[in-house]
Amino acid sequence: MSAPAAVLAGLGGHVPPRAVTNEELSRSMDTTDEWIVRRTGIRRRHWSEPGTATSDLAVEAGHRALKSAGPGAPGDIGLVVLATATPDHQVPSTAPDVAARLGLGTVAALDVGAGCSGFVYALATASAALVAGHAERVLVIGAETFRPYLNPADRGTAVIFGDGAGAVVLRRGTADEPGAIGGVDLGSDGTLNDLVAIPGNGSRSRSTDRAPHPDDRYLRMNGKEVFAHAVRRMAQSSKAALDRAGWDVGQVDHVVGHQANLRILHALARQLGVDRARVVSHLEEVGNTSAASIPLALADAAARGRLRPGDRLLLTSFGAGLTWGSATLTWPGIALP
Ligand code: COA
Repeated sequence: MSAPAAVLAGLGGHVPPRAVTNEELSRSMDTTDEWIVRRTGIRRRHWSEPGTATSDLAVEAGHRALKSAGPGAPGDIGLVVLATATPDHQVPSTAPDVAARLGLGTVAALDVGAGCSGFVYALATASAALVAGHAERVLVIGAETFRPYLNPADRGTAVIFGDGAGAVVLRRGTADEPGAIGGVDLGSDGTLNDLVAIPGNGSRSRSTDRAPHPDDRYLRMNGKEVFAHAVRRMAQSSKAALDRAGWDVGQVDHVVGHQANLRILHALARQLGVDRARVVSHLEEVGNTSAASIPLALADAAARGRLRPGDRLLLTSFGAGLTWGSATLTWPGIALP
């Protein structure tokens, strides 16, 4: 009999309605549509209106994923894992509120913080819980509200990040089923934790009497350094996940990498020896949505009919921490709401 595994059973995405074009940004900061498209591939991103928080986006995406998983899904959910770098509050975590607002009752619920790698970390956490028998179904959500953390004076971050949420339902199944999560690889390098950071948000900045600098509430990123690490780590991690799955890179139909920069995705494809046509890209429309980027890219590709049952997918991500993670899966037949 085939080994137990987590199997993809539902999928949904949500972005806030307000689309902000490159042209709109160029009216308030020293940038151009031409620069942003050429250097990143991003054409627009969606930003939440004031008053909207990460849980609001997570609930929308979670609702769609539950609907996609079918009528029995909400009753069977035993765990909600929410990947986010922008939780509603420092305390409490955001997942219990999301679970309650989705009508899931008193299920187990936790946040996972792994920057832009959060969704793959959450997927691995959920898979382990399913395989161990802690739940029959798990709702995994990646959701972010980055707009309030973007420094309008920093054109290296303000043009890149967007808000959104993506969610999947995983159920307990077997490794030979379509939709089964296969090889997983996770890693981190905390010696480089200053390359992407919001320095003024935690116990480190509160541990001194010194008032934090006003700019410390904003996201900071050393874009050039992060770019190089992202390509190298996602390529290494992808190969490790493929090895664990027993797949050759030539068998991969779609590479769904973290949607940070189209040049990163193309460099990754080059390092893996994969044709660019097999790279899934959704960042033109939503920018870098951090932990939401992979499920949003999946929801977009599925809605456009690009993913066919039986296709082999490689998910790979990279983010603050530094963190990285990859996972393989075969695409199941998924009904999108
Ligand atoms: N518009 C116009 N010019 C800009 C700009 C913008 N939005 N942002 C930066 N520039 C300028 C810089 O000031 C610099 O000018 P200079 O040469 O006169 O100093 C020039 O463009 C090149 O800057 P650089 O930072 O080298 O640009 P880049 O090509 O590396 O692109 C990023 C910047 C942020 C798009 C890119 O580094 C990136 O995508 N990094 C990875 C991000 C990522 O993966 N994040 C995920 C983990 S959170």
